[in-house]
Amino acid sequence: MGFIKWVFFIFALCASGSTPILSDSSFNSNGLSRIPSKLLNFAKKPELFDWMVGIRRKIHENPELGYEEFETSKLIRAELDKMGISYRYPVAITGVIGFVGTGKPPFVALRADMDALAMQEMVEWEHKSKIPGKMHACGHDAHVAMLLGAAKILKEHQKDLQGTVVLVFQPAEEEGGGAERILEAGMLENVDAIFGMHVEPSLPVGEVFTRPGPLLAGGGYFEAVISGKGGHAAIPHHSVDPILAASNVIVSLQHLVSREADPLDSQVVTVAKFQGGGAFNVIPDSVTIGGTYRAFSKESITQLKQRIEEVITGQAAVQKCNATVNFPESFPPTINSEALHEHFHKVAGEMLGIHRVKDMQPYLGSEDFAFYQEAIPGCYFFLGMKNETLGRLESEHSPYFQINEDILPFGAALHASLATSYLFEFQPEVHLQEGKYDDEF
Ligand SMILES: *[C@@H]1O[C@H](CO)[C@@H](O)[C@H](O)[C@H]1NC(C)=O
Ligand SMILES: *[C@@H]1O[C@H](CO)[C@@H](O)[C@H](O)[C@H]1NC(C)=O
Repeated sequence: MGFIKWVFFIFALCASGSTPILSDSSFNSNGLSRIPSKLLNFAKKPELFDWMVGIRRKIHENPELGYEEFETSKLIRAELDKMGISYRYPVAITGVIGFVGTGKPPFVALRADMDALAMQEMVEWEHKSKIPGKMHACGHDAHVAMLLGAAKILKEHQKDLQGTVVLVFQPAEEEGGGAERILEAGMLENVDAIFGMHVEPSLPVGEVFTRPGPLLAGGGYFEAVISGKGGHAAIPHHSVDPILAASNVIVSLQHLVSREADPLDSQVVTVAKFQGGGAFNVIPDSVTIGGTYRAFSKESITQLKQRIEEVITGQAAVQKCNATVNFPESFPPTINSEALHEHFHKVAGEMLGIHRVKDMQPYLGSEDFAFYQEAIPGCYFFLGMKNETLGRLESEHSPYFQINEDILPFGAALHASLATSYLFEFQPEVHLQEGKYDDEF
């Protein structure tokens, strides 16, 4: 018996006891290709669906900001306890890392973010946020519910797992670098691949969207204080005017993308903050400006950052002002692994039909999932929510943002299928090498 067949045989033996996924088939390519649709049917069962809806609504009512997700984290742990899934806590303050499967390699990670936004919900409904000034307006409540749904599916099919699924419930995606801190905690050191998803109100329900290679931009934030010398607004020659200097700085910054960047290499520099002055007749001492820069390659990001600093200090000096520039946060681009994108394409295609798996254009938003992808091959994708019958859905970060809860089974089943099939598919190579080695003796 060839080694692969032997692995399959062992699997079939293990599987014959308890396996809902493949109970009616031996482990072959046909059985494997049925995993996604079987898991979707499982995820659509009313008891699982209602349970996910309940969790999502509970989290929605009690939104918590980055590193304050204590109740959300508690709820996650309570559900994992009920399922008998072991986990590590605390990781990165409020994070929870669960483990389902053999406890042995390969390891594949699935990630959900937990944090809400500091904004007031304007949607009037039964499960509206109960915390004034805080809202789940980016769908992270649904992301958690879907990963818990996946946990339940995976636990139910545990005997079919040819390795270990690592469930990453991550704090502080919006700001604060939650992904970086999970990595720093060393929780993903042995992980071979990671998948993440985001709900998307502008794309149709039942469809998924991504692309191989660069998907979202990297970049960072900058802030500059431009100092002059304050004085009477009617006697400008006794002052050094930082308002005019800052205005010229802002105009000069526009040249970085329009004149210095390759037109085929998409980049953004936006000044989004301008603070200075408080009276009609006073030139202030200083002005603070700030904004963001984005690009798709490390080189372009580094170049932009360096030139932003040079342009601000240089242009301020032209007008006899001094400037200090700092860069409070930076993040890498989200770049999908070609191999994992191919895996995603196959699994999602088998689940939803290949015509519902769409390529998308890259765009210049950012995701802290990118930090994982710097360390581990990863694939990030978007899950459509739009249903014309139900009406228009507002975009992320809108106070009117809503979740189409019909998507919860899709997200849960995609997570579970991506991990289950990954463990099947990427296992044999390891064993094949071992097998070859054995054969030589
Ligand atoms: C800029 O900094 C120099 C050196 O510290 C100082 O002499 C000068 O007064 C400053 N100019 C303004 C406008 O703050
Ligand atoms: C869209 O919403 C309607 C009304 O709830 C529902 O009947 C239909 O199945 C939904 N379509 C999809 C693709 O989910």
